[in-house]
Amino acid sequence: MPATSFTSLPILGNHVATSPSVASSTSGSDHLTLAVLGCGTMGVTILKRILDQLAEMDAPRPLQVITSSASVASMSALYSSHASSAAGAAGATSAAGAPDDMPDRLPTHFLACVRRPEVGKRVRAALWSHSSAVKVVVDDNVHAVQQAGVVILACQSSEAEDLLAAPGMARALSGKLLISICAGITADQVEEYLYGSSPDAAALTVATTDAVSSAHGRCRIVRAIPNAASLIGESMTVIDTATSTGALPADLVALVTWIFRRIGSVVHHPHQSLTKPAKTAAASRAAASSAAASTALGTAGPAFFALMLEAAIDGAVAMGMSRAEAQLMAAQSMRGAAGLVLQNNEHPALLRDRISTPGGCAVHGLLALEEGGVRSTIARAMREATAAAAQEGSQ
Ligand SMILES: NC(=O)c1ccc[n+]([C@@H]2O[C@H](COP(=O)([O-])OP(=O)(O)OC[C@H]3O[C@@H](n4cnc5c(N)ncnc54)[C@H](OP(=O)(O)O)[C@@H]3O)[C@@H](O)[C@H]2O)c1
Repeated sequence: MPATSFTSLPILGNHVATSPSVASSTSGSDHLTLAVLGCGTMGVTILKRILDQLAEMDAPRPLQVITSSASVASMSALYSSHASSAAGAAGATSAAGAPDDMPDRLPTHFLACVRRPEVGKRVRAALWSHSSAVKVVVDDNVHAVQQAGVVILACQSSEAEDLLAAPGMARALSGKLLISICAGITADQVEEYLYGSSPDAAALTVATTDAVSSAHGRCRIVRAIPNAASLIGESMTVIDTATSTGALPADLVALVTWIFRRIGSVVHHPHQSLTKPAKTAAASRAAASSAAASTALGTAGPAFFALMLEAAIDGAVAMGMSRAEAQLMAAQSMRGAAGLVLQNNEHPALLRDRISTPGGCAVHGLLALEEGGVRSTIARAMREATAAAAQEGSQ
């Protein structure tokens, strides 16, 4: 992995304008600064994976063939600036293996905001290979946000209110994009921490999204909830594109998506194919329930599967296997099943059928699972988790 070298770009050079369109503007400054507020497990993981990806895009490609003047232009853009590199690298493979819908602009400068010097030291060590691109800011969130165009809120959920209510924070965020990854906190709550209220719902129905943001001098708040597998680039992140200031414009959806594709896969709510808001009360209830189910499956899913792993391991240990070997085999079998379903996009029942040879061990085990009501118990667990996620969203 090549070290990131943005040496030609001053870390705190030009920054994204505080216009309401935030990072959506393609004109003006080449620089887009991303500030991460709170650099613990998630903040550092997200930063590191973005920086790794940018470094990879910047690395020389020995076998690249330039076939047209357009390609020459895009190549020179690629090597001269990350900001311009988006178009040149369109079609690049994402962490999750699928081509990205590249945003107009990518972040070029990074501010890692911590509140304690010892955490700053840890962050510097974790990001040492990208040290020319990242500045660690200790106990100065507002100043960092003033210089950023895009901000990720990655502190503990219980600390978010204090962080956002700091004097000058609401003003510093004005017109910018604020991405909250804080589980258990809704976009409306973030609004309230910042401004003391949600934006006037009536205004949202008549104004364009840009007009809404600027009229209120507020930031755009997007909720993107990753899961624990972010650490290994296998997150299932749910991005809520229906922000409190209206639907997120496509270029910002692309930017948020690009960021979270660095740590795994992404789904959007409302689904990107649903460009129009739900017309009936029933349709909007169904959309809300589906969004809550997404959050539940994305965040709680790994916990459910961990329980299944534990049970399989315990069973194998009871039959005489060593725990270490049972754990390796169970986890690899689960990864294999998931990989087959993802790769072939086939119904899991087909996989189950293929494995269940007549008189074989799989069919015997599967019948025991069905007798134990595992299918309905897991489905009920999903419904309970969805209800809890919906409750969280309505608070
Ligand atoms: N971890 C996951 O798997 C996961 C999954 C989905 C969502 N999330 C969400 O992601 C967020 C971060 O989770 P995490 O696991 O990364 O937590 P974490 O490791 O505890 O990191 C949070 C960081 O925020 C810092 N912080 C708190 N207040 C701050 C302030 N005012 N200014 C600057 N920094 C501040 C903390 O600093 P100190 O060290 O000084 O306390 C800590 O380093 C949480 O809201 C969580 O709900 C996490």
